[in-house]
Amino acid sequence: MVLEEIAASLIMWFSYALIPCLLTDGAAVLPAPQNLSVQSTNMKHVLTWSPVMVPEETVYYSVEYQGEYESLYMSHIWIPSSWCSPTAGPECDITDDITATVPYSLRVRATLGSQTSAWSTLKHPFNRNSTILTPPGMEVTKDGFHLVIKLEDLGPQFEFFVAYWRREPGAKEHIKMVRPGGIPMHLETMDPGATYCVKARTFVKAIGRYSAFSQAECVKVQGESLPLALALFAFVGFMLVLVVVPFSVWKMGRLLRHSCCPVVMLPDTLKITSSPQKLISCRREEVEACATAGVSSEELLRAWI
Ligand SMILES: *[C@@H]1O[C@H](CO)[C@@H](O)[C@H](O)[C@H]1NC(C)=O
Ligand SMILES: *[C@@H]1O[C@H](CO)[C@@H](O)[C@H](O)[C@H]1NC(C)=O
Repeated sequence: MVLEEIAASLIMWFSYALIPCLLTDGAAVLPAPQNLSVQSTNMKHVLTWSPVMVPEETVYYSVEYQGEYESLYMSHIWIPSSWCSPTAGPECDITDDITATVPYSLRVRATLGSQTSAWSTLKHPFNRNSTILTPPGMEVTKDGFHLVIKLEDLGPQFEFFVAYWRREPGAKEHIKMVRPGGIPMHLETMDPGATYCVKARTFVKAIGRYSAFSQAECVKVQGESLPLALALFAFVGFMLVLVVVPFSVWKMGRLLRHSCCPVVMLPDTLKITSSPQKLISCRREEVEACATAGVSSEELLRAWI
């Protein structure tokens, strides 16, 4: 009787101890994903892991996370990731899940048909304040005399600090804070002929961190050189006209007199008796007559020389 009881309890103990073991073994045929890590740049966070290889099969993965709030106040509840429950690739964009600057635990497991692997957990919880902030991409242009900057659009969490200065000894650096990226923004009205340089860095309020400054980019404003040259050109032209035109008129007068109206010695009597009025009208007639008759080119040349 006593022996029977001992035997029965032994069997019960074995079965209780073995059944979970067998069940666990059956469920863990699929290996758990390894090498979990988070790559985080400019507040974009991606969890990656080494893929579980099963020939000719597609393994799916499920990702879950647990923030400080869930681990402290919600009895360690795990929340399925918004984009990876499940997912086929060995990576998961967890940007939308990480909503606070607190440590997050992350875990992933593989699924193949009815088989499910054990959970694999990230060794060190991830905090988004460890994200890598890169200097922002920017485009510096000029629109007439306006210095214009266009910054990379990195999302609503990003603010930009833009530093710009006129390139000259002892120039003062100006700082402007710009909120959204992606749209061209006027920085300053530039002085003609000057060179302006611009650099920018990002700031993420949520984590209280700045990126490094980008490489400075400089633009030169078209100086007054072009208008000045135009003015000079116009002045020279004006002077030329001022000098050449009266000279030509004078020379023309001489030429006409030489070719059409040779100086003729007039008898004294004619000089005295002819009124100036008469003399002029005579000459006009003479000139007109000459013009119609035409002047030979040799004569013209001789007159000019
Ligand atoms: C984990 O990463 C290491 C080095 O990157 C690699 O050698 C190893 O094979 C990886 N493990 C798995 C299960 O792929
Ligand atoms: C991130 O925040 C934690 C505290 O939550 C702090 O210990 C750690 O130094 C911070 N890391 C960085 C890179 O700022």
